[in-house]
Amino acid sequence: MRAVDIIIDKRNGKELSRDALRFLIHGYVAGEIPDYQIAAWAMAVFFQGMSPGEIAALTEVMLQSGGLMDLSGIAGPFVDKHSTGGVGDKTSLIVAPLIASLGIKDPMMSGRALGHTGGTLDKLEAIPGYRTALQAQEFREILGKTGYAMTGQTKDMVPADRLLYALRDVSGTVESIPLITASILAKKVAEGADALVLDVKYGSGAFMKEPEEAEKLARSLVNTGAMMGKKIIALLTDMNEPLGTMVGNFLEVEESLDCLEGNGPADLMEVSLELAARMAVLGAKAADAVEGRLVCEAALVSGKPRQLFLENIRCQGGDPKQFLEMRGKYRSDCSAEIKASGGPYISRIDAWKIGHAGILLGVGRNRTEDPVSPTAGVQFHKKRGDRIVPGERIMTIWAADEASLAAAIPQLEDAVEYAEIPPAPRKLVLKEIS
Ligand code: URA
Repeated sequence: MRAVDIIIDKRNGKELSRDALRFLIHGYVAGEIPDYQIAAWAMAVFFQGMSPGEIAALTEVMLQSGGLMDLSGIAGPFVDKHSTGGVGDKTSLIVAPLIASLGIKDPMMSGRALGHTGGTLDKLEAIPGYRTALQAQEFREILGKTGYAMTGQTKDMVPADRLLYALRDVSGTVESIPLITASILAKKVAEGADALVLDVKYGSGAFMKEPEEAEKLARSLVNTGAMMGKKIIALLTDMNEPLGTMVGNFLEVEESLDCLEGNGPADLMEVSLELAARMAVLGAKAADAVEGRLVCEAALVSGKPRQLFLENIRCQGGDPKQFLEMRGKYRSDCSAEIKASGGPYISRIDAWKIGHAGILLGVGRNRTEDPVSPTAGVQFHKKRGDRIVPGERIMTIWAADEASLAAAIPQLEDAVEYAEIPPAPRKLVLKEIS
């Protein structure tokens, strides 16, 4: 086989065999097929799509690029959650300790910032000392101890996704249903979860701009997951506005703790609780989502999820005491405020523009090898629907350096729209697909 023939076949709309996909993906992981050929293939997939059989084969081939997490000896149930990517989306950091406090184990394998969306691993690594490249034994120990563990794709676990994810990020091939499906499910099958809740986002800040596209992605994920023996519930959620009041790596970890302390913003709490409620159902701690939500709300009041969150920081190499002391203070020195230029209502804060400005500030990356800043980001003092007066402070922003700050300011100003009347309320969770 030759990689170029496989690329041409996909470019011409042909269905690729499992052998061809294995040749390409395993050859890439072995260093025998270069980045540029894989980027060309990914672009061909982006335009031509894949059949359900091809998507399942790609998922399996990616999964087989490494080993599986062995969770034997740890009491389940094992339930995980994954998002298709958003702006200010830190729900993973909230739901993992929350459902762990119910006695459900969450073995979470996550990703880094992708395109304009944030990455769970980048956020966690903003905590000084926090390690996300866990060896299998350490992952198992932490999972057993705190009920959840957070890791990334490694050289041993789904190495194909580690490489492909980074390459897609910088080659314009992120927004592809087959590639997103295989990327998410390969990780989720490898980590050993029995059941999954997927947060499939739509809107300007998501990879799928329209609910119909997000629904296609959700069905692809649910169907491929079922072929791989996983129980999956997908929620379609609105990602037109940034979720919560913080966008940035350390900022988002801080806001997650606010949520676990009962002080989270309403939109973020709503999406987190709806996801956690389904995880409680899949973990047999509730009969349905209504009961699941009550169970999760009661768990938050108990304070146990907060305790597990801090314990997890300790287990993964951070210092919880130091983390609490840094709260509200760990910010870049380059800072500015964005003031209202209209009014009297904010009708929209465009999540896509905020996500892109976030890359300029240093929250995300333009090239695979770029570092991200732990302390850059945006704090919203006002959100969609708020009444404001011209000149009032809407955001405080922090950047990696002065040039980044200057580049981001016009984009952040441009992200805010104003109206004479308040906008209609948004439905945050549109639909459940299972
Ligand atoms: N999350 C992933 O893990 N992979 C994608 O491709 C998109 C979101």
